Amino acid sequence: MEVQLFVPTFQVDECLQEIRECLEKGWPGLGFKTIEFEEAWKKYANLPYAHLVNSGTAGLHLAVNILKKRLKWQEGDEIITTPITFVSTNHVILYEKLKPVFADVDHYVCLDPDDVIKKIGKKTRAIMFVGLGGNLGQYEKIVEICRHLRLALILDAAHMSGTKIDGQQVGKEADVAVFSFHAVKNLPTADSGMICFRLAEDDAFARKLTWLGIDKDTYARTMNTESRNKWMYDVEDIGFKYHGNSIMAAIGLVQLKYLDQENEYRRNLADSYTSALKECNTIQIIPTASGCESSRHLFQILVNKRDKLIVALNKNGVFPGVHYRDNTEYSMYRYASGTCPHAHEISGKLLSLPVHLRMTEKDADKVAQLVIKHIHK
Ligand SMILES: Cc1ncc(COP(=O)(O)O)c(C=O)c1O
Repeated sequence: MEVQLFVPTFQVDECLQEIRECLEKGWPGLGFKTIEFEEAWKKYANLPYAHLVNSGTAGLHLAVNILKKRLKWQEGDEIITTPITFVSTNHVILYEKLKPVFADVDHYVCLDPDDVIKKIGKKTRAIMFVGLGGNLGQYEKIVEICRHLRLALILDAAHMSGTKIDGQQVGKEADVAVFSFHAVKNLPTADSGMICFRLAEDDAFARKLTWLGIDKDTYARTMNTESRNKWMYDVEDIGFKYHGNSIMAAIGLVQLKYLDQENEYRRNLADSYTSALKECNTIQIIPTASGCESSRHLFQILVNKRDKLIVALNKNGVFPGVHYRDNTEYSMYRYASGTCPHAHEISGKLLSLPVHLRMTEKDADKVAQLVIKHIHK
């Protein structure tokens, strides 16, 4: 038996057909397919705006960049964030010369609202919430805190494609939600992401900034036709090369059709793990928040002697993962060391068991039995 942590599954023929259309048209870049995918995502997620970018990281950076400009944040202003995340979440705050202030995580391994409140100060401008593994945690309390204190809310929804409350995709409560369609995410492409702002002006600005700040609208207004004098555009802002392309959009459009069905499959795998592991009192299963239909990007447990267990599982052909190491242990975030004791404690115990569509519930059960067998050794 060999069970990897993540193996993406693509609807290959359908993807190739969509890609073929781009190639035959001679239009693999930003254009007709990216627009089609944005429209399909807006419809699926019931979000007012969506713009395809070339990664979740690019989307998160743009989110901070645009909110900083509109809300006139100053260098050194603070964003409260989580230490248990992929570094993209926190690097993008630094890209904009703002300061990541770390709040501790709760038993869902998401931001703990009580600690968030303690970390809010005069310079706090926003909260960055990560729905770890597709979980909602206490997101609704964070939404309330932001509304009450007039803080911006950025949702790092990299793991949350298909995470729902009351049957609705999570995201519209935030000023901006950013999804990742990286190769091993629930809606895999190769590399891309979707940035979804609440306001039309932010979305319009994002579209300009993802193409180096080129103002196509000004050009269109001035020239009154797109076909003449294409070089006569204006550049009003320092933008980035962050836009998505039609090849990624082609894959995304196909994969989106299967997202709900695939997430359900993931939830069934998670249920198999839960029933096999729940009697083992040395394993703590990270719970899903009530009312949350998780995308189940991850199935996470807490175990003692985690690293030894990983070696034993590897020897048996099972390759779990760790999401994530406490970011305040990294050299560059060490200034915050000691500020999040719970995150620090669980960071050495967190283990993500394999969840993907090429596994069966029987495989999940076998992995669980191996975990139980080796946990006490
Ligand atoms: C929590 C989290 N945030 C952000 C990202 C960045 O997404 P991408 O890989 O699409 O840049 C990832 C992806 O690995 C992630 O796991």
